[in-house]
Amino acid sequence: MSMTNPTRHPIDHVVDDDYLAACDRAWAVVRDHARSILADVDATPYEAPDGHRAYCLRWLRRAAAMPTDEARPWRGPGGVDGAPDDDAAPTLDLLAHAAGEYPAFLRGETSGPAILLAGEGLRLWYDYFGSGNGLYRPLNAAAADTVIDRLRAAGGSRLLEVGAGTGGATGHLLAAWPDDVADVADVEYTVTDTSPRLLRETREHLADRPPDHVRLDFRRFDLDLPPDRQRVAPASFDVVVAVNAIHNAADLGSSLRSLRSLLRPGGALVLSESICGPGALVHQELILNLLPLPADAYGRLSRFHSRADWLAIFADAGVRAEVLVNSSGPELVMTAVVTPGDPR
Ligand SMILES: C[S@@+](CC[C@H](N)C(=O)[O-])C[C@H]1O[C@@H](n2cnc3c(N)ncnc32)[C@H](O)[C@@H]1O
Repeated sequence: MSMTNPTRHPIDHVVDDDYLAACDRAWAVVRDHARSILADVDATPYEAPDGHRAYCLRWLRRAAAMPTDEARPWRGPGGVDGAPDDDAAPTLDLLAHAAGEYPAFLRGETSGPAILLAGEGLRLWYDYFGSGNGLYRPLNAAAADTVIDRLRAAGGSRLLEVGAGTGGATGHLLAAWPDDVADVADVEYTVTDTSPRLLRETREHLADRPPDHVRLDFRRFDLDLPPDRQRVAPASFDVVVAVNAIHNAADLGSSLRSLRSLLRPGGALVLSESICGPGALVHQELILNLLPLPADAYGRLSRFHSRADWLAIFADAGVRAEVLVNSSGPELVMTAVVTPGDPR
């Protein structure tokens, strides 16, 4: 396994000073939301009833208590006191929606999926993962750059996306699609998720996006099941991509090896993930903590993995991965490229 910083670093193009300052401002908004939520639930004598809600309550208390200057070693040009900009609106809108629902969630009156994956929440969820959201765009952009580089290198034409969800990364990649990748052949881009509803809605959402030479195929694929049980043949893709999706796997090592087995010789598995340094907090947690937590997250301070966690996950899985993380500011975005072959 290697940690490299080649001259063309797809993350540092997008995680720049402006982005870090925007994260700081979003963080200040989250801290204020956490304080308001706690003021609301503390007004009614309250204790969290189960493991998940208790975890969320602990997280809110940590967030509310975090003194901004010490909490954020990075101080971007706008500082935390600058006004959040329009580019961050999709994140700020979803944060406000989530914050408004937290008291009812903590009282056990509603659930995370009901808040985020239905009605107004689902509309905001689509905007959140799209590249019109400046606070999320780096995840999609770093993945798209890497996928295009790898398709060119493999001279390949078969692409699989796993956990495509709202199609935020898919839409970014289609918009960035360069003409020269199509010289090779028509590209077959298989877009997958476990949610039939998201697949249906995302297909409609992206209907007018594919360039002429890219054929989109939407279907179900579950990271937790062996590919051959889902009619996906080994060694059948040049690139497999997953943007903020692989962490959902019940057994990360097994899913990493399964996805790697789908690669043709010379192919690549491209992973783009939000990360969180040890002991740090990131603004996205206020939103995503509403959804069920992976069992191992209860033993960590964040539901997100750190860079060190990911390096251990790749090593334990026995996969070879080239891992890139933003070089300035706190660790926030990781791109990993897993290649076929050894050691197991
Ligand atoms: C945070 S979203 C990923 C963001 C996505 N790139 C987008 O633009 O919406 C995670 C996605 O992983 C999917 N997912 C969750 N568990 C999965 C599994 N076991 N196999 C495949 N996809 C899964 C979810 O349905 C969701 O759409």
